[in-house]
Amino acid sequence: MKATPSFAALLCDWQLEYGRHDLPWQKTRDAYRIWLSEIMLQQTQVQTVVDYYQRFLARFPTLEALAAAPLAEVLESWAGLGYYARARNLHRCAQVLVADHGGRFPQEAEEIANLPGIGRSTAAAIAVFAHGRREAILDGNVRRVLARCFGIEGFPGAARTQKELWQLAETLLPAQRVEAYTQGLMDLGSQLCTPRKPFCAACPMHDLCIARQQGRQAELPTPRPRKVLPERDTTVLMLTDGRQVLLERRPPTGIWGGLLSLPEGGVAEARELGRRYGCRLLSMQAVPGLRHTFTHFRLNIQVLLCAVAPEGRLVAEDAWQWLDLGEAGTAALPTPIRTLLGRLIAGLG
Ligand code: ADE
Repeated sequence: MKATPSFAALLCDWQLEYGRHDLPWQKTRDAYRIWLSEIMLQQTQVQTVVDYYQRFLARFPTLEALAAAPLAEVLESWAGLGYYARARNLHRCAQVLVADHGGRFPQEAEEIANLPGIGRSTAAAIAVFAHGRREAILDGNVRRVLARCFGIEGFPGAARTQKELWQLAETLLPAQRVEAYTQGLMDLGSQLCTPRKPFCAACPMHDLCIARQQGRQAELPTPRPRKVLPERDTTVLMLTDGRQVLLERRPPTGIWGGLLSLPEGGVAEARELGRRYGCRLLSMQAVPGLRHTFTHFRLNIQVLLCAVAPEGRLVAEDAWQWLDLGEAGTAALPTPIRTLLGRLIAGLG
């Protein structure tokens, strides 16, 4: 009787032939480079990451260089990738590694997972790719692959389902070829077992996959239970003379921590800001705002456009600065604020 090839054997063979082998972070055992790639790849597509990754490494070639850089510079290099908490944690993690670990990543995945911004799956990926360890990963792509292939019901973010998936991930882990296996899981999740319209005909798990057998690819993994998010309202001020706009650096913690943003407030605050930062208010006008959804709430952003005339020199201090509108595209701004400034610029043009 012929033995049925295991999930791991099928995956490793497929990875060797069809997986990715030339990504810039694949040809190194340097934990710094591997860590950086894994953090960038958490919420961003490979295609986008490649460019950012090279530029980031050119600016911060070593862990020490990153740890010594001001946070604002790190955020600037991250501008456009979004989810800036990743950049803040990256910076903090580099500082912890330099201060407490002699500038080296620990060997054990469990210890790596104690560092800022590194979860269990990312720690495992670093241990596998940098140290050749035998550890299981379970990121969003892998959850989808396993939930479909093994017919695991329940929202993967729920504690019970998550536990089941981790157990499965550990059980499936082969004794050898763990790097090819780990890369294979990532590649399968992004190349074939895609969220919508997976390419089952080309999948090495075609004959094993329960979702495919039952035609339930669209139902697995079980989607997040729908819940109504609470809403909050805010008004932001756009003080501009048509060339520059007044921005405030947000406090390091909380939403958009450490990023430049439009100041919040109403008419009184607009007047006060004008006085403090060297301009006279000419007019104020409500312009269309937008709604931004965070994980735990929705934010309705109203916008008060304040036309100003500089009186002498525009003053900048500490957390406040006048940004040239031409630089709005590349500054470290929250995505909705970038959108609002984009509209302002389009309206001026
Ligand atoms: N997604 C997360 N980690 C990855 C990696 N190392 N290669 C490709 N895609 C990934």
